[in-house]
Amino acid sequence: MTNSLDKNIDHKHIWHPFDAIDTPENLYITHAQGIYLHTDDGRKIIDAIGSWWVNLHGHSHPALVSALKDQAERLEHVIFSGFTHQPAIDFTREFLKATQYPYDKIFFSDNGSTATEVAIKMAFQYWYNQGKARTKLLAFEGAYHGDTFGAMAAGDRSSFNKPFFPFLFEVTFIPLPSDDNIEELLSKLETQFATEAFAGFIFEPLIQGAAGMRIYKAKHLERIIQLCQKYQVITIADEVFTGFYRTGKLLATEHMHTAPDIVCLSKGITGGFMPLGATVCKEYIYKAFESTDVYKTFFHGHSYTGNPLALALAYASLKLLLKHNTQIQIQKICTLQANFSAYLSQKYKHIRCNTLGTILSIEIISSDQGYFSNLKETIYHYFLSQDILLRPLGNVLYFLPMYCFTETEMEFIHTSIDSFLDKLPQ
Ligand SMILES: Cc1ncc(COP(=O)(O)O)c(C=O)c1O
Repeated sequence: MTNSLDKNIDHKHIWHPFDAIDTPENLYITHAQGIYLHTDDGRKIIDAIGSWWVNLHGHSHPALVSALKDQAERLEHVIFSGFTHQPAIDFTREFLKATQYPYDKIFFSDNGSTATEVAIKMAFQYWYNQGKARTKLLAFEGAYHGDTFGAMAAGDRSSFNKPFFPFLFEVTFIPLPSDDNIEELLSKLETQFATEAFAGFIFEPLIQGAAGMRIYKAKHLERIIQLCQKYQVITIADEVFTGFYRTGKLLATEHMHTAPDIVCLSKGITGGFMPLGATVCKEYIYKAFESTDVYKTFFHGHSYTGNPLALALAYASLKLLLKHNTQIQIQKICTLQANFSAYLSQKYKHIRCNTLGTILSIEIISSDQGYFSNLKETIYHYFLSQDILLRPLGNVLYFLPMYCFTETEMEFIHTSIDSFLDKLPQ
């Protein structure tokens, strides 16, 4: 059992994300293994959200523990400007080989927000370096790209960033494409591109996670990307959530045949062990920075950029992902989620259920909608009381299994969700 004085220190002195006045005491996790989080009072809670979408292989996976230990004994950190190391080289080589698209350079940073911040700065400076005045950014309504200022600006305006509205640069937001609006959207965009100089278009490919797991079609996104490319608008895929097989493929954009110009990665990149961001780009982007003119340099660098521990983990996690057994396991999870979604859609009228690869999302149809819906607390506490961590986005419940979930464990979560939905008034 934890000392209650320690818990007091947490409650009194540690500022956790999304803390509010009535925030209850935080659950104290002593250790975690596989799908389980262990609390100080002996509870075993199933982590059904991959630890805020970062964990891929399960907690404390032995291959990752050993990669981290080995690397810590060799080299824990070195300045990444003017210096390099083997884990950075290993991850870069394997990632560039694994993706179906022809990317050329990877810029490392610390998290998802910095990965997108770097991408946005790269796009703006790409035009600046050529003396061309392209200063506008295009994004989707409902977008979320992180909490730093550039990332917030690229995200939809909402209660989350309201205090900062005066400081956010202007962005043009377009609706998510659908069968109903795609032709009109493309035609409006074509008119806009012909008259306005957009630097780039940033998007969460195929699914907007934070907005409530809003899924849209690859074929529509591909047409928007192709139009952007026709007008030289740099396309930036924010794969912070979708990367590393969440959608069944290494990258969500690999469900298309057109490669965006820049890709942002984080969250699952280290298997959930350490923070790391990566911004991957095509050769032509980098070429605009390759100059004898020092003022064309990309002056962006974090102290922990290219951290060897994080990169050793990223390399170990990628090797695990590419193993035949992991690939089979991921496909099995995709099938189980799709079957369960079909079952729920048939059984219940008061939900909208959807899957994209390993991601299952269930929107509870209610007049109480959105992130601040009261259903959020009801759902969260219902499952937590059964030792399952499912943290809904308002009235949207989602299940994001780590790839170590067995068929029995998947079924256990599915049955729990089914019986919860059964109890809701229809
Ligand atoms: C699509 C997307 N981009 C960026 C971010 C920000 O990542 P981080 O929380 O690591 O800064 C998130 C976080 O949820 C995300 O879902």
